[in-house]
Amino acid sequence: MNAYFTEEGSVETVNARVGPNVNPRLASVMAALVKHLHAFAKEVQLTQEEWEIGIDFLTETGQICSPERQEFILLSDTLGFSMLVDAINNRRPEGATENTVFGPFHVDGAPERPMGANITLDGKGESCLFEGRVIDLDGNPVEGARVDVWSDNADGFYDVQQPGIQPKWNNRGIFVTGPDGRYSFVGIKPVSYPIPDDGPVGQMLGHLGRHPFRPAHMHYLVTAPGFQKVVTHTFVGDDSYLDSDTVFGVKRTLVAPFDRVKGGATRWRSPFDFILVPDEGAQ
Ligand code: BEZ
Ligand code: FE
Repeated sequence: MNAYFTEEGSVETVNARVGPNVNPRLASVMAALVKHLHAFAKEVQLTQEEWEIGIDFLTETGQICSPERQEFILLSDTLGFSMLVDAINNRRPEGATENTVFGPFHVDGAPERPMGANITLDGKGESCLFEGRVIDLDGNPVEGARVDVWSDNADGFYDVQQPGIQPKWNNRGIFVTGPDGRYSFVGIKPVSYPIPDDGPVGQMLGHLGRHPFRPAHMHYLVTAPGFQKVVTHTFVGDDSYLDSDTVFGVKRTLVAPFDRVKGGATRWRSPFDFILVPDEGAQ
């Protein structure tokens, strides 16, 4: 192994520089990162100009970040990396509800509402009854599950994207299941919308001939004592972006029925059960 840098020995030279008393996990993650990063440059024969474009892109991605905007996560999302990391960390048995991408629009501390309450405070959109059960893998109801829900409004914006235009907590709420494990609430049939695309990630999508849209979905964060947390959505089955979600969040099992209701209190009904897996690490 050569202490001096050569093209052929680049990986070994860089990784050999790591000190003796380093966190072993950090050392192995960084060694693999260096290996794959160098292999990438060698595979594409990266030019100096392309390296500079990449550095400028990452710099702009950092510069547009703020407490309200996380462009690096958006980059990870649009490269399918968020979904990959989520998949690696949330392998579940057949039948359990699958995870999908969390997204940037969840807000902690949404109001806990009575079962069946209407979460649509701006009065826009086509009303939809969302209902189902939170159950375990054997079909037993899960009591005390917190079903935290959020969606865009009928114009395709989350309340936090339009402060002063939409009421605070519009299309958000938390519902806690009783002994029957049932949840229900009234929202709207969600609509498809573009992710924030006025920054470097939007430019990247444009250069790659990709659109910025997500298919219509309702977000869920379902937590219950003794069970793994589920971060997921249900998708509207007739959406034209289902096959081209810009963040790759769609899974077949998450496409939910949205049935037209004739003469009911809501125009649509969307039934969906959440099937939770025990958290082995929990006491
Ligand atoms: C969302 O569904 O809210 C979302 C997910 C990933 C990136 C942007 C938005
Ligand atoms: Fe969303």
